[in-house]
Amino acid sequence: MENDFHIIKNLMKQYDGSFYIYDEKKISSQIQILLENFPQFEFLYSIKTNPFPPIVKFVASKGFGADAASAQEVITGQKAGMPYEKILYSSPGKTSKDIERTIDKAMIIADSYNELVLINSVAQQKNIHKKVGLRINIDFSMDGEKGTSSKFGVDENTLVKQKEFLNGFSNIKIVGIHVHLRCQILDHGKICRYYERIIELGLFCKETLGWEMEFINLGGGLGIVYSLINDTPLDIEKLSCDCQGLIQRFNDKLKVRLIIETGRFITCEAGRYVTRIVDIKESLGTKYLIVEKGLNGFSRPSIAELLMDYTPENSNLKASEPLFTTKDAFEFIIPEGDTFDHEKVSIVGSLCTATDILVKDAMLPKAKIGDIVIVSKAGSYSYSLSPILFSSFCLPFQFYLNSDGEIFRSGTNSIL
Ligand SMILES: Cc1ncc(COP(=O)(O)O)c(C=O)c1O
Repeated sequence: MENDFHIIKNLMKQYDGSFYIYDEKKISSQIQILLENFPQFEFLYSIKTNPFPPIVKFVASKGFGADAASAQEVITGQKAGMPYEKILYSSPGKTSKDIERTIDKAMIIADSYNELVLINSVAQQKNIHKKVGLRINIDFSMDGEKGTSSKFGVDENTLVKQKEFLNGFSNIKIVGIHVHLRCQILDHGKICRYYERIIELGLFCKETLGWEMEFINLGGGLGIVYSLINDTPLDIEKLSCDCQGLIQRFNDKLKVRLIIETGRFITCEAGRYVTRIVDIKESLGTKYLIVEKGLNGFSRPSIAELLMDYTPENSNLKASEPLFTTKDAFEFIIPEGDTFDHEKVSIVGSLCTATDILVKDAMLPKAKIGDIVIVSKAGSYSYSLSPILFSSFCLPFQFYLNSDGEIFRSGTNSIL
């Protein structure tokens, strides 16, 4: 930590502005946990979590493919060295332009019946034959109830009726399915029941619909601890054990690639947001530390504060992924503060809006103007989900610290 702070302090001195720093060692140790516990599974990195190229490249070097949610993410995966069969492109509303751009670069997962027609017609125009996947809105919920309406995929209960249509394309053939219901699950039993249900669906697609199944993409869901008070870590070893059982059960009936998508599990805690105090003031009993970039640097803590303003005390806020997960997710560290003298402060940004609050009434070491503030859990859904263009400030930088201590920087912080 001390060495890290030295690096952070030097970066702040050199670049004189707020930034994100991502730590390869942490990403690597999270990847290792998955590879060791799930040797029979393949992993895709959900690029939307954090598309910073050095991260995608590192993840690719560990054998991960890409869960790409746009044509551009397909290109990002390809540039990071991921081969065709490891890039699965799944999102609703793909246009023919998206399909033309990616058909030779990724396994496309159709998100609707119309999309199957679109992919087939692009393949026809190009005079090629393609294998594709289909996203299915499974009739199942994590909480043991029936499925619900969704904008994603096609409803499971429509498949049999559409069998002829699904199997009648001239230039495409369905060889896999994709299901994703929810993120941030910490109960290994829930995840395992969900996987089991999807594998059963895969078997149904093989036996009843006659598909030559090559893969089952089980989607995302591996959660991490946000709230130190309320969250119990996902028991990876137990999940691994449950998964072994599942594989033994289905192994001789269905030989397919079993794929898990993951994002936050590998990058969230590897990222920190760094800003510095530019002013300190008091107003009617509240002490404000004004930082260079608050909401427009890292929006998730501000969204948490905003939601709390509208929510009765002690009520259980519903997670609204990926903008909000829990209320007490972020740690605020002022390494140069006076650890012997704590005070209650609110950390706010320099935008002309009252919602620009990172944290309200936190007990923190007494700080002075110029001190650095570090915010934890900034590696996923952070830079890309923050309103970095608001009010025309320069952009936060992004830095990648590799295991040899080398630092890679994002291009520029200019908004021009
Ligand atoms: C289809 C799909 N897969 C995987 C993920 C990754 O989720 P997480 O970052 O929670 O692992 C997401 C996130 O939104 C998703 O939509």
